[in-house]
Amino acid sequence: MNGMTSSTTPDLLVGPGVRLNPGALSFPPGFLWGAATAAYQVEGAAHVGGRTDSIWDAFARVPGAVLDGHDGEVACGHYDLYRQDVALMKDLNLGSYRFSTSWSRVRPDGGAPNAEGLDFYSRLVDELLAAGIKPWLTLYHWDLPQALEEKGGWVNRDTAYLFAEYAATVHDALGDRVGVWTTLNEPWCSAFLGYTGGVHAPGRQSRPDGLAAAHHLLLGHGLAVQELRSRDADLDLGITLNFTLPDPADPDDPADVDAARRIDAQFNRIFLEPIIRGAYPQDLLEDVAEYGLLDHVRDGDLDIISAPIDALGVNYYHGELVGAHPAPGARAGEAPVERPTSSPYPAADGVHNHPRGLPVTSMDWEVQPEGLTRLLLRLHEEYTGPAGVTLYVTENGAAYDDVPDATGFVQDDERVSFFDLHLRAVHEAIQRGVDVRGYFAWSLMDNYEWAWGYHKRFGIVRVDYDTLERTPKASARWYAEVARTGALPAQP
Ligand code: FCB
Repeated sequence: MNGMTSSTTPDLLVGPGVRLNPGALSFPPGFLWGAATAAYQVEGAAHVGGRTDSIWDAFARVPGAVLDGHDGEVACGHYDLYRQDVALMKDLNLGSYRFSTSWSRVRPDGGAPNAEGLDFYSRLVDELLAAGIKPWLTLYHWDLPQALEEKGGWVNRDTAYLFAEYAATVHDALGDRVGVWTTLNEPWCSAFLGYTGGVHAPGRQSRPDGLAAAHHLLLGHGLAVQELRSRDADLDLGITLNFTLPDPADPDDPADVDAARRIDAQFNRIFLEPIIRGAYPQDLLEDVAEYGLLDHVRDGDLDIISAPIDALGVNYYHGELVGAHPAPGARAGEAPVERPTSSPYPAADGVHNHPRGLPVTSMDWEVQPEGLTRLLLRLHEEYTGPAGVTLYVTENGAAYDDVPDATGFVQDDERVSFFDLHLRAVHEAIQRGVDVRGYFAWSLMDNYEWAWGYHKRFGIVRVDYDTLERTPKASARWYAEVARTGALPAQP
C-alpha cells in the first residue's frame, strides 16, 4: 500500500486466525489518529444549562441497575474542563476527537432547541479547530431524553423522526464547522442491551421491544442521513456499529456453526445489511419471526435506511467462540448488578460462549487482536468495499486494574500492548487492501462505564474522580508518539 512500510521480521501469532507482524510498521500518510468519548460518560453537568434527564440519568436511579448507583451527574467534568481537555489532546498529538452531543442538552425533554446547550458544543468545536484537531461528531451515544422514553422510546416510531429533527438542530449550530457526522453509536447496544437484556437504559426486558427499537434506530439513522445530506452534500456521513466475530466451537458440528450464524445475524448483520444492502437478512427474519420485527417495517423504510453513507465506524473489542453446547468456565462480561437481567439476544437461546484461554482484560473480555484483521477484511470484501464506503476504527481499547503511583501516574504496560497488537491488526488489514483511514482509542480518559459505573477504567489518561485531575498514563505517552510518527516501533 502506498506510503506504507513494514519490516520483514517473522510473523507474530496472537490468536486463532491471522499472523501479525511484530516489526516496525508505518501507516499510510494522512491516517487519522484520534481518541473517543461520549457525552454521558464524560460531561457531567447533567442538570446544568437547561439539560434535563436522559434515560441514563433515570436508569442510574433504579435500585441495583448500576454498580453502586453511580451516575453521570459529575462524571469527568468535561463540560467545565473541556479547554483543558482539548489542550491535553493537542499535547498528545491527536488528529481528531470523537465526541457525542447530548440530545437532552440540545433539545431538553426532546422539545425545543436550547441555545445554552448548543453553545457548549459550539465552544468545544471552536477549541478543537483552534488546536488543529478535527471534530468527529456523533449525534447519539445512548442517551435518549427520558421524556421521549416515557412516550415509548425507540419502540415508538415517532422517535426516529424526532431524531432527524434533533440532527437538524445540531447541524444548524455546528454545520459550518463540523465535517464528519456519525448518526448513532452502536445501535445494537441501544436496542438489545437497553430493551431486551435490561442491562442498559432504559432497562426493558422484551424481545419484541428490542427488535422494534432496532428498526426505529435504523430508520432514525436513515432519516438523519437524508436530512444532513440535503443540507450539505459535502458532509462525511456515517454510523458506528459494534461488531463481534463469532467463531463456531467446532466448525464441523452443524449445531455450532448455526450458533455462530445466529450471533452473526443478531449482532452484526441486523444493522449492516439494511444499511449497506437495503434488506434485513433472510435468516435473521426466520430466527426472530415470532417477535414482530416486520410489523414495524413500512414501505420505503429500507430505502431510507440504506441512504448512501461515506464512512462506517467499526467498534471492536473482541470476538467470541460460540457453540450449541455449554462450556465450563464461560465468561460473564457483564456488570454484577443486583437487578436481574436477561439475554440481549432475541433468538439465541441455547447458544453458549466458550472461553479460549486467551488473556482477558478486567472486563473479562478476551484479547483477540487478529479478530480485528479478519473483521475488517470481511467488512471490506462483503460490504463496504463493494459499496464504496470507507472504514474507520472508531473504538478499540481495554480496561485494566490500573494502579497509580503517588503522583497519579499509571504505568499501564498491558494497555500499551493491547493498543500495539490491535494497531498491528489494522495495519495487516490495510496491507491486505482494506480501506481503513483512521483509528480512535477508547477512551481519551477514564469515564463512566455504564452499568459498571466508575469501576472500569478505559482511559489513556487517568481521571481522579475526587479532584477531576487528569494524568496521562504511559499508554497516552506511547500513543502520542505513534500519532506523531504515524508508525509503530518494532516489538522488543
Ligand atoms: C462501547 C461503548 C463505549 C464504551 C466502550 C467500552 O460499547 O460505545 O461507550 O463503553 O464500549
